[in-house]
Amino acid sequence: MSNKIIIANWKSHKTVHEVKEWIEAFVATAPRVQDAASQMQVLIAPSFPYLSEVQSAVASLHNVAVAAQDVSQFPLGAYTGAVAAQQLASLKIQYCLVGHSERRKYFGETHQTVAQKVELLLDQGITPIVCVDEAEISEQASLIASDQRKRVIVAYEPVSAVGTGIGQDLAQVKLVVASIRTEFGPIPVLYGGSVDERNVAEYVLASDGVLVGGDSLDEHDFMQLLETLHSS
Ligand code: PGA
Repeated sequence: MSNKIIIANWKSHKTVHEVKEWIEAFVATAPRVQDAASQMQVLIAPSFPYLSEVQSAVASLHNVAVAAQDVSQFPLGAYTGAVAAQQLASLKIQYCLVGHSERRKYFGETHQTVAQKVELLLDQGITPIVCVDEAEISEQASLIASDQRKRVIVAYEPVSAVGTGIGQDLAQVKLVVASIRTEFGPIPVLYGGSVDERNVAEYVLASDGVLVGGDSLDEHDFMQLLETLHSS
C-alpha cells in the first residue's frame, strides 16, 4: 500500500502518562511496517501539550510525523488560549487539521474561520488538512483562494460516520472523493469515520488515506491497522 496518508487523531484524549505508553509501544513496533521502503506516511495528531514530546519520540522513524489538531484563526498576538500557526511552525510542525466536525459543532467554527486558518497555515509552510462533510464541500472551497485550494489535503468526514462505528458506504466515499477533486483540484483526499482494521484496506483504495479516531487510541489496535495496510 504505497503513498497513503494514515492519521491517528487522538482528539482530546490521553494524559501525559498515556501518551508515553502509546509512544513507547509504537516506537518499538512501528519499524516492522514503517521500514525504509514504506511509502505510507503516518501522522500522529495529539493535543497541543504533547506535540513536541511525540515529535521527538518519532523523529527517528521513517515517514512518521506529527500533526496539530487545530490552529488559531489569528496570527501571533494578544489572543489568550490560542495557538498560532507561527508557533506551530516554530516547532517544525508540518501538518494541521482544520474544520473537524467536532470543532464546527462544539466550538462554533465556520467555513470562514476555517478559510482564515488555511491561509495562516500555508503562509507558514504548514499543510492544512481540511475536514468537510459532503454538504460543506462547495461552500468551504469557495471561501479558500484558488491558489490555496491546490495546496491543501481534504478529509471527507461524514458526521454520520464519525465516532459511530458505522463507516460510510464505499461507493458513496468514491463519489464524494471525486466531487472534492472537482472543487479543489488534484489534491490528496482522505476519508475519516469509523475506520478500523477490518475496513481500512477498502477505504484506502477509495481515497488517498484515512483519518482514524477511536481505533488509534489503543497502540495495539493502531499497529494492527498499519499491519493490515502493510500486507494488503
Ligand atoms: P472515528 O473518528 O474514527 O472515531 O470515527 C474519525 C475522526 O473524527 O477523524
